[in-house]
Amino acid sequence: MKMAIFQVRTWLSRRFSSVSSHPLQVCVVGSGPAGFYTAEKMLKAHQGAQVDIIDRLPTPFGLVRSGVAPDHPETKIVVNQFSRAAQHERCSFFGNVTLGSSLSLAELRELYHVVVLAYGAESDRVLGIPGEDLIGIHSAREFVWWYNGHPDCKNLDLELKNTDTAVILGQGNVALDVARILLRPATELATTDIASHALAALEESSIRKVYLVGRRGPVQAACTAKELREVLGIKDLYIQIQEADLLKTPKDEEEIKNNRIQRRVYELLSKAATTGHSYPRSGQRELHFVFFRKPDIFLDSDERRGHVSGVHFEKTVLKDVGGGKRVAVGTGQFDDLQCGMVLKSIGYKSVPVVGLPFDHQKGVVPNIRGRVLHNTSEDPTLLEEGLYVCGWLKRGPTGIIATNLYCAEETVASILEDLDKGVLATKSFSPKPGREGLLHLLDNRNVRVVPFNGWEKIDSTERRVGSLKNKPREKLATWEELLKAATE
Ligand SMILES: Cc1cc2nc3c(=O)[nH]c(=O)nc-3n(C[C@H](O)[C@H](O)[C@H](O)COP(=O)(O)OP(=O)(O)OC[C@H]3O[C@@H](n4cnc5c(N)ncnc54)[C@H](O)[C@@H]3O)c2cc1C
Ligand SMILES: NC(=O)c1ccc[n+]([C@@H]2O[C@H](COP(=O)([O-])OP(=O)(O)OC[C@H]3O[C@@H](n4cnc5c(N)ncnc54)[C@H](OP(=O)(O)O)[C@@H]3O)[C@@H](O)[C@H]2O)c1
Repeated sequence: MKMAIFQVRTWLSRRFSSVSSHPLQVCVVGSGPAGFYTAEKMLKAHQGAQVDIIDRLPTPFGLVRSGVAPDHPETKIVVNQFSRAAQHERCSFFGNVTLGSSLSLAELRELYHVVVLAYGAESDRVLGIPGEDLIGIHSAREFVWWYNGHPDCKNLDLELKNTDTAVILGQGNVALDVARILLRPATELATTDIASHALAALEESSIRKVYLVGRRGPVQAACTAKELREVLGIKDLYIQIQEADLLKTPKDEEEIKNNRIQRRVYELLSKAATTGHSYPRSGQRELHFVFFRKPDIFLDSDERRGHVSGVHFEKTVLKDVGGGKRVAVGTGQFDDLQCGMVLKSIGYKSVPVVGLPFDHQKGVVPNIRGRVLHNTSEDPTLLEEGLYVCGWLKRGPTGIIATNLYCAEETVASILEDLDKGVLATKSFSPKPGREGLLHLLDNRNVRVVPFNGWEKIDSTERRVGSLKNKPREKLATWEELLKAATE
């Protein structure tokens, strides 16, 4: 690595002598909403900025492609806006470039005046309880990547044909997406952009019963009303909610009074609990909402050793911890749910790269309004010059697409302020190699960069194949297919 840095430096010094006027070289790492909103704002706000966006995938758009559910096409329209940014004359996209393996953070910072990290949260929170690595237990992230054709999860080994029951842990919007995909008739998914391997597997799935389990109550469920209404509205679905769980305490009443979303969610759950039949018809698909349960142990199957056969839960009650926050605490009473598949939907987690200050407790890069803090310093206000952060890596893994717009505005405002104040000028007011230097370095390492027109080739292949099946696109879901289509 030292050798590589040396080579870049030598190249840099040669290049400096030949540059007369120099743009502000900006590199954004990650092409999800946070990355694209940052690029868009930066291009608009600084006429001298040249913005390069790198992404580890050959495809852009982050979770808009690999997270947003296939039956939510209207949410994905935002990619048109992102594509316009990528096609701006001062912007470039370079896919198949991974920060941390294609090149290091230190190298990137040598190449650019400003580096904005917007690489999201690509790992999972863990429960840390016995049995978590049994076969049949996956994170919701992996399941979502699987049905959305992310090339890292095409071969996920799911238990869809070996059981009729799945338990989903967590009650946020991701949990609802995952429940909907498991329970919706596969015929309704057939005309979406769901990956073909997932559609085929869901058509043959034997899952009939899904439990959505929350450690707190219906008043505290983390989902939003529109998404809840959608899952409750699935055709011919039996819904079960224990009426006892819907009893509200005075504290619940207070929470509901102060929060419109929580109130709507509670009302929808209450209504669902009292409508419909008391028992499912034979063969009818079922969705059970279970509250006040925290997972304690995953149970190993007797018949199929090493496979999950259920979850042992501890019943909970809510405890005030101040600041209006109420957490679930165990009561010492337990019960089990039998199942052959578990999806943990308890939140995503960001991962650091070498040389990046990182708050492991919160799972974010420590920052002040997007400026990365130098965390080894005694001085908590000391900043990493030229290094910024945006999106889930900055705030943690919550918020919808639009939240990243405001987040990017804040980060770009900090960059502009630093430029104005000369904070960025101390070491960096010399030309930097930017795009040319990046491509030179990657070429030396035989990294097969996929430019935006490579993505456009993938896009047109996917649309062409999709149109033959009455789908908006047929996603290419392996690295080989994606890289091949990018160069055709
Ligand atoms: C399952 C799911 C469904 C969702 N559905 C909706 C919805 O319907 N509507 C809505 O408004 N919001 C939805 N959201 C929320 C929304 O997707 C997020 O708010 C948003 O995507 C976060 O943006 P980001 O740019 O921070 O991260 P991401 O979108 O995750 O983008 C990060 C990018 O960084 C790249 N990357 C990662 N590591 C590296 C690396 N080392 N080097 C280079 N590149 C790297 C990734 O490939 C990715 O392209 C959903 C979220 C999830 C998880
Ligand atoms: N259609 C959409 O707009 C859409 C779709 C998908 C995602 N999103 C957004 O994407 C973001 C991420 O969604 P998400 O569902 O991953 O996160 P989330 O909304 O934070 O929900 C996480 C869930 O996991 C539970 N949980 C966390 N730790 C747990 C533990 N140790 N044990 C048991 N349960 C635990 C939480 O319970 P507690 O509440 O008790 O902590 C909560 O129910 C959210 O902002 C969401 O709105 C939006």
